[in-house]
Amino acid sequence: MRAVILVGGFGTRLRPLTFTIPKSLLPVANVSLLEHVIAALSMAGVTEVVLALGFKPEPFLTAFPDGVCAGVSLRYAVEPQPMDTAGAIGFAARFAQINETFIVVNGDILTDLDVSALVDFHRQHGAVATLHLTSVDDPSQYGVVETNDHGVVQRFVEKPQPHETTSRAVNAGTYVLEPSILDYIPLDQPLSVERVVFPTLVAKGALYAMSTDDYWIDTGRPENYLSANLDLIDGSRSRILASIAAQAHIAGTAVITRSVVGDGCRIGAGAIISNSVLLPGAVVDDGARVEASIVMGHIGERATVTDCVIGVDGRVDFGTTHVAEKIPDPATL
Ligand code: GTP
Repeated sequence: MRAVILVGGFGTRLRPLTFTIPKSLLPVANVSLLEHVIAALSMAGVTEVVLALGFKPEPFLTAFPDGVCAGVSLRYAVEPQPMDTAGAIGFAARFAQINETFIVVNGDILTDLDVSALVDFHRQHGAVATLHLTSVDDPSQYGVVETNDHGVVQRFVEKPQPHETTSRAVNAGTYVLEPSILDYIPLDQPLSVERVVFPTLVAKGALYAMSTDDYWIDTGRPENYLSANLDLIDGSRSRILASIAAQAHIAGTAVITRSVVGDGCRIGAGAIISNSVLLPGAVVDDGARVEASIVMGHIGERATVTDCVIGVDGRVDFGTTHVAEKIPDPATL
């Protein structure tokens, strides 16, 4: 079976991290998000992945020079212009000449969903498209989906106000599609799958959805990207990965708790790192403190950062204190 992974977005909510690394290549517990996603697809029998690329395709080509990721063959569909989600699916599926049932995944979702169960559900119902749904406490930032008892989608409400729907089930970003979906996606034209194509299928009764309570997180917001890392090292996921990369240089007197440290990081004597992610190459000098933060740059000697997102050029000077009120709400970025 083949899958298309959407990895061509701008990732604005994860700036400044995405100024230098595309969102799907950011590591989660020292393994790229994309590798986590492809490993899960491989378990469901996917043997070829088409990466739907737009913005910044080069780092993907460099990251997988032999065209293989997690044992799965890669093909690269590079859009000539941003095509939005449906345009990207159409471009990639036509590029790879997909003519059988296929899977589409947003490249920023981590989930323990059994994708083959979603494929079975799709086939049993004879759907044109089937979505994975998950429940969230506050659906106001998501596309809420209302279904009937047979799994037929009745309505989509994008970013609803509290009075607009009682449903907490949101589009979880994994789809099973028939090639006939291409009839709804014009050639070479930007188009949204969530706002245009799925609502069109709802009107025809051809869109189905399956809800699960598997682990699920949309890593595209800073606080979620941090949680996705910490969830893996906490053991709340089925796969547990190392928290500290082999090539990190850590002084013997540094204290690291509940954090992820990437390759090439340098952590000085007496530094205290907690509840944080240090991306590859980050530097934390002697006696510095990093709490609940995501760091690519350089934290100077005895500086303190709390609830901050620091990009590759970010430098916190000797002895200074940076405290964000909290990791910024993506809606305000
Ligand atoms: P923000 O800018 O922070 O909203 O992130 P984003 O650009 O990634 O957008 P969003 O999270 O809504 O996108 C969902 C998925 O679709 C992500 O995996 C994106 O990489 C992908 N995506 C969004 N727009 C495009 C596009 O025009 N082309 C391709 N190939 N993928 C896209």
